[in-house]
Amino acid sequence: MTQETVTLVDNRTGTSYELPVLEGSLGPSVIDIRKLYNETGHFTFDPGYTSTGSCESKITFIDGDEGVLLHRGYAIEDLAEHSNFLEVCYLLLYGDLPTPDQRQQFEDTITHHTMVHEQLTAFYRGFRRDAHPMAILCGVTGALSAFYHDSTDIEDPYHRMVASHRLVAKIPTIAAMAFKYSIGQPFVYPRNDLSYAENFLQMLFAVPCEPYKVNPVVAKAMDRLLILHADHEQNASTSTVRLAGSSGANPFACIAAGIASLWGPAHGGANEAVLKMLQEIGSKDRIPEFIARAKDKNDSFRLMGFGHRVYKNFDPRAQVMRRACHEVLGELGIKNEPLLDIAMELERIALQDDYFIEKKLYPNVDFYSGIILKAIGLPTSMFTVLFAVARTVGWVAQWKEMIEDPSQKIGRPRQLYTGAAKRPFRPLNERA
Ligand code: SDX
Repeated sequence: MTQETVTLVDNRTGTSYELPVLEGSLGPSVIDIRKLYNETGHFTFDPGYTSTGSCESKITFIDGDEGVLLHRGYAIEDLAEHSNFLEVCYLLLYGDLPTPDQRQQFEDTITHHTMVHEQLTAFYRGFRRDAHPMAILCGVTGALSAFYHDSTDIEDPYHRMVASHRLVAKIPTIAAMAFKYSIGQPFVYPRNDLSYAENFLQMLFAVPCEPYKVNPVVAKAMDRLLILHADHEQNASTSTVRLAGSSGANPFACIAAGIASLWGPAHGGANEAVLKMLQEIGSKDRIPEFIARAKDKNDSFRLMGFGHRVYKNFDPRAQVMRRACHEVLGELGIKNEPLLDIAMELERIALQDDYFIEKKLYPNVDFYSGIILKAIGLPTSMFTVLFAVARTVGWVAQWKEMIEDPSQKIGRPRQLYTGAAKRPFRPLNERA
């Protein structure tokens, strides 16, 4: 089959260049520009990577126009309905859903890696009690490379596997410890008799003074939240992890870099920002005022939890999240949650507003998640931590795929330089 190409013509020189077109299994094809600079002397220019494919991947596929999200070919709606988070972890890491034996072995492995080195607890004492849990999560996760030298050789497949298991297993423990530290309660050790979501909940909410009883409704909601946040193609934090990993940095440092990137309010920090926005709106009758602000070019305010770089239709995760929101609040007997009422009214009004329709701004994964997390009993400062706990498996899977890609090399973008041309140094006494 002849190689598909596109022709690039440099009108200044009349020279034309044939650029190969690479077809994927789903979604847009790509123009292979790896030789562009050597052949043309030009760079491409795409600061937000809105039209750039940074890698080849088999993990997650998103169709933004159709609202499709697949993990290794399985629809997110099916995984949220029929699977559980550890199965999705296995799927993302190893390429397919596990057999019963594979699932049991993987669950045993992860369960027996959930404890952290006891000396790691000393790191928490160095933070102020009011430190943001994301700051603690970022710092302590990066510090794991100081403890686990036996799984930092990225060239060794066994090291990569052990590091992957350690990160997936320990991130909820580290996250729960950050929460306990922030509220002045003792750390709670993991329990091997509980599922991943149940264990995370008991490490968050158990106290030594009484037995902790897992609420199955809350555990199911937590497991579904983790599934919905597990991976999402080449988003900002995943691209951060890939770029950090491309230099050969150890996996613990790479995941800490991903946590830092996720923290931003334009990305994973949006779920915390949504709750603060709903609390600031305060009542349905103030919604028009905030819609107007979101549309005002002179106002930096944006409707948090709305819009997405890829989804220009609905975010399939938001739809599952909205249903989960109603189920959890209903089953927890929370009848009139004013923030949910405001969120639903805000969504209704925005989706009828020409500005949001024209700019294709729909609720994203962060719009409803905060209301569920608030109902579960987490403070807003822990919302992005939950996102990071879930996304760690996606980051690790993408990192592993990059390391195992024979064509991967260190990421090193170029630029369009518009600064000063070369000029002579001026001694201090000549500078007015
Ligand atoms: C996540 O990439 C991923 O996959 C991320 C994520 C994942 O799972 O990893 O899905 C998780 O990060 C979800 C997004 C959470 N962020 C928010 O909810 C913050 C609010 N949303 C925006 O900041 C914004 O929508 C982004 C950052 C999400 C997307 O921004 P883009 O793609 O760069 O779009 P843009 O900023 O170019 O906006 C296009 C237009 C602009 O107007 P014009 O300049 O064309 O006139 O839409 C406007 C924007 O002003 N716009 C909004 C808006 N989002 C975009 N206007 C009001 N409110 C908003 N929320």
